[in-house]
Amino acid sequence: MYTIKGCLFDMDGVIVDTAKHHFTAWKALAEELSIPFTSKDNEALKGLGRLDSLEKILQLGNLELNSNTKLKLMENKNSLYLELVRSMSEEDILPGVCGLIEELKVKGIGVCLGSSSRNASIILKNIGLFNLFDGVVDGNHLTFSKPDPEVFIKGAKILELSPSNCVVFEDAVAGVEAAKSGGFFALGVGDHKELDNADAVVSDLSKMNFSKLLEIVNRND
Ligand code: BG6
Ligand code: MG
Repeated sequence: MYTIKGCLFDMDGVIVDTAKHHFTAWKALAEELSIPFTSKDNEALKGLGRLDSLEKILQLGNLELNSNTKLKLMENKNSLYLELVRSMSEEDILPGVCGLIEELKVKGIGVCLGSSSRNASIILKNIGLFNLFDGVVDGNHLTFSKPDPEVFIKGAKILELSPSNCVVFEDAVAGVEAAKSGGFFALGVGDHKELDNADAVVSDLSKMNFSKLLEIVNRND
């Protein structure tokens, strides 16, 4: 019987749908550099940190740039992204998320954010969820981006829990890989085929609750 003592949530794509805003902002940058960039290319950036994402886009255009130019491009991309997410509110929280987190808290389960985004705190505050988390680990606290497990290992440390007692909720292949290599139960949220490296996959969290979660992790035991 698997004991769940903590849950670590990725933010982009699990708590809120920000992928469309990342896409708009990266697309503007790619256009400026005359690099073709499609929504499929954007899928491959899910879960990656900002610099890793930029490097992937530059690879698409076979472009090599110096660090100062890359910094400037990332600053511009982020300013546009921040403009786009500024209007986000609690209405943008994905279905089932609030109910699940509230139930976990009532049951005494530790709840932590594990996101590659440096904008996580701003977004959590905009959607009114910041205070619900026992800990927030985001891109500002990381040396290594997903698929490295650092983000979730740091989260488990904040919760003072072993990874083997924690479930990670992830929508990205890189995030699932991070959870698996850190020794967590990786629950994929999204497409079964895309996230086939996860321990289990649900299409979304709309019907998720604690007893269902226990059933899922123990089915895989
Ligand atoms: C991840 C997103 O959560 O954060 C990526 O899935 C994004 O698409 C990354 O690039 C970094 O985000 P930010 O907000 O720090 O630019
Ligand atoms: Mg994500």
